[in-house]
Amino acid sequence: MKIDFLDRGLATEGTLVIGTFEGKKLQGIAADADKKTGGALSRAMTVKDFKGKKDEAVRLIAPNGLKLSEIILFGLGKEDGVTPLSLEELGAKVMASLEKCKDKSAFVHFPAFSTKTMDENTATAHMAYGALLRTWKFDKYQPKKKEANTCALKTLGFMTDAPKAAKKAFEPLNQIAEGVFLTRHVVSEPPNIIYPESLAKIAKDLKTLGVGVEVLNETQMQKLGMNALLGVGQGSIRDSQLVVLTWKGGPKSQAPLAIVGKGVTFDTGGISIKPSQDMDDMKYDMAGSGVVLGLMRALAGRKAKVNVVGVMGLTENMPSGSAQRPGDIVTSMSGQTIEILNTDAEGRLVLADALWYTQNRFKPQAMIDLATLTGAIVISLGQEYAGLFSNNDTLASRLKEAGDTTGEKLWRLPLGEAYDKDIDSGVADVKNIGSGRGAGSITAAQFLQRFVNDVPWAHLDIAGTAWDKKGRPLSVKGATAFGVRLLNQWIQTHYE
Ligand code: BES
Ligand code: ZN
Ligand code: ZN
Repeated sequence: MKIDFLDRGLATEGTLVIGTFEGKKLQGIAADADKKTGGALSRAMTVKDFKGKKDEAVRLIAPNGLKLSEIILFGLGKEDGVTPLSLEELGAKVMASLEKCKDKSAFVHFPAFSTKTMDENTATAHMAYGALLRTWKFDKYQPKKKEANTCALKTLGFMTDAPKAAKKAFEPLNQIAEGVFLTRHVVSEPPNIIYPESLAKIAKDLKTLGVGVEVLNETQMQKLGMNALLGVGQGSIRDSQLVVLTWKGGPKSQAPLAIVGKGVTFDTGGISIKPSQDMDDMKYDMAGSGVVLGLMRALAGRKAKVNVVGVMGLTENMPSGSAQRPGDIVTSMSGQTIEILNTDAEGRLVLADALWYTQNRFKPQAMIDLATLTGAIVISLGQEYAGLFSNNDTLASRLKEAGDTTGEKLWRLPLGEAYDKDIDSGVADVKNIGSGRGAGSITAAQFLQRFVNDVPWAHLDIAGTAWDKKGRPLSVKGATAFGVRLLNQWIQTHYE
């Protein structure tokens, strides 16, 4: 489906979506259409008791006098208080209402939204962006269902006072959406299709957009001493990979931002095996790396004026004769020894080496990691917020703000010495689980912090938000790509 921007004018085909603010009369071409049909639209509003309240919708067969097939009256609620996010959600709702549409084209005529900080074109672009985000679905493996369910819509046109300017405002948003779609795609693919090497191969495609792509194999990682990461993958027949993506859009002298992702392409738990109920969910245990990939796609696509490195730690956690055992002690790249007490606490082992490598090689000005790290964060925050941990208050508050702006919300949890003590080991420098049953997400974050020096760092535990069981305003159920829009916003606001 193509998004288009056009001048305001009465369409002569397809579906027309007319928006009205609460309690307001029809305006512009909506008023013209009403006149042309002898007041059929206002009559429908009265009969259906349509007041223009938020999310109210009335569907009509287009009355005689109009060359349209259908009209959808859409309630916009109160006129004040719109934000880019509320407009995106509105666009997504319009798209959802058009899903069963039989027309090839639909046109959206809403009264001009504008605020002190946002002109009408930007507002229209954000609506279109929300609509676009809502179109994505994963039906690759259901070709018949795909055909039956495919929305007939070929173009969705947004009417605005200055279509050219709206189109220009939409272009970078379109690129962010491409990044979001790439993330959703790789996170949704099954674990027999996405494994470390196949995901690294997809990452290589970013070269065409000007992203530098390096892939380290197991031999190269062994040379670097990445035994924590390699230990996780040693039970799998698949080779582990470390993917390093670089985007150089900023000045040469600018230290990069670094984004590091957990990429366990399937997490069985290893020898500390998980129960079989819902184990298939663990295909999305690579979502952190999926976000790194999609974010780099978005930044390159919109030619962001900033230097960023993305690192994906890719491995598969399997039980086998060669698998790591509870009780094993490994020496990480940092030199610290780790006692493995539970092979299911593997994400932190992957990140220990990936974080250490990233901070030492790139000397980033800030480093963020994303990981579906703990079941405990799902217990604390559910699917609403991702957990945020940081050694830097400014970084934490900026990330939280970017989360509020994009609707990818973060909730900060504490770090501290008492929690840190809990992962001291009797036989090694550190153990990979806490001793008690409490604060599982915090002890996991505390473990990561042992592999971060003084660099401003934040850890986002996205175990509860990477995959949505019900669907969210801007995504259908399944992979959300939580983190791409958030980090793009953070970068755009503070570093470009
Ligand atoms: N990948 C899981 C965490 C997870 C749980 C992600 C639910 C998405 C949804 C992680 O590797 C894990 O198994 N963590 C263990 C740690 C424990 C053994 C200390 C957990 O949370 O149970
Ligand atoms: Zn695990
Ligand atoms: Zn895991």
